[in-house]
Amino acid sequence: MGKILVTGGTGFIGSHTCVELLENGYEIVIVDNLSNSKEAAVGRIEKISGKEVTFVKADICDYDALSEVFGKNDIDAVVHFAGLKAVGESVRKPLEYYTNNIHGTLVLLRVMRENGCKKIVFSSSATVYGMNNKAPYTEDMPTSATNPYGYTKVMIEQILRDVCVSDSEFSAVALRYFNPIGAHSSGLIGEDPNGIPNNLVPYIAQVASGRLEQLSVYGDDYDTPDGTGVRDYIHVMDLASGHVCAIDYAMKHNGFEPVNLGTGKGSSVLEVVAAYEKACGKPIPKRITERRAGDIAICYADASKAKEIFGWEAKSGIDEMCADSWNFTKMNPNGIN
Ligand code: NAD
Ligand code: UFG
Repeated sequence: MGKILVTGGTGFIGSHTCVELLENGYEIVIVDNLSNSKEAAVGRIEKISGKEVTFVKADICDYDALSEVFGKNDIDAVVHFAGLKAVGESVRKPLEYYTNNIHGTLVLLRVMRENGCKKIVFSSSATVYGMNNKAPYTEDMPTSATNPYGYTKVMIEQILRDVCVSDSEFSAVALRYFNPIGAHSSGLIGEDPNGIPNNLVPYIAQVASGRLEQLSVYGDDYDTPDGTGVRDYIHVMDLASGHVCAIDYAMKHNGFEPVNLGTGKGSSVLEVVAAYEKACGKPIPKRITERRAGDIAICYADASKAKEIFGWEAKSGIDEMCADSWNFTKMNPNGIN
């Protein structure tokens, strides 16, 4: 089938995608600097898949380390997850975000070029739809950003577009993820953020497990059915299978292709809380607070392009996502160690 380099492969989405790639017959090499993940994820990926994984602890900004990986392995394509992803932190540390995400991607693309590797699947984000478009978002809408993290995604998409123009054999699929949650059904891998979670479901998970006291619901005065923010939550295993489709697509097509990975359906904060309460069998203490700066009311995908060009669509609903998140949380009270 081929050998895939997975940058950021020990992280949340990367680890689930590694399992899915292995189960679809691909060999994988993971490069991760472990800045936001643990090496123990490698063993868990191997346990679930029953296959061996090559792991290299390295930074994608390290040209020599990446060149060595390409020298030792015949890499057919890259799935590029490695990046910093906290919106608030990116406002405080713009240089770190631009260096890590953009410089890292440039080093990766240079090493790919030097080794004749012309296929990449990149982790973009629904954040590129900015504040001016209206959901459901379609891939032809203009992109923009409101914070350094978002700009790194907009700029990397532009870089990939330009590389495809410069080389007609190059293929880049930018997957625009909506809100990935959930975990592998084995409970061996899942989302294990450092410190206090920024995102809704990891926060709820820590309230459910007693590590945090109560959830702050950021605003109930939005123009939505129950006043709380609406997002397109997608099961991380559905997202993972979308990457296998994207790799298969990139192997057969050239050029730049942005593709939404979402369910096409929005759920409110209160609907997610209710689904999680059902999953864990206890109430989630919560209070309504002010809106969080930079949040929009409604964000969900038009998911028709992925269906059309990959034959892919998300299968899981919010109940299954919350049940798998809770299963992982219960089985890993101290995270992945
Ligand atoms: P994550 O932090 O769990 O995974 C990212 C991995 O990349 C981590 O294991 C980290 O150690 C590694 N990494 C970071 N910088 C690196 C570097 N310079 N060199 C080598 N490794 C490095 O995050 P995730 O949720 O799995 O996200 C993966 C990708 O998807 C990111 O690019 C993120 O921006 C994007 N994305 C995530 C979401 C989300 O809600 N989780 C939404 C949209 C897009
Ligand atoms: N929310 C709360 N309380 C919390 C956390 C979140 O009420 O403690 C609400 C938010 O206001 C929002 C919803 O829950 O309405 C989802 O918030 P998340 O932080 O989980 O997700 P976002 O949609 O804000 O952000 C995610 C990714 C970003 C990405 C963005 C757009 O985390 O990286 O989607 O794609 F930029």
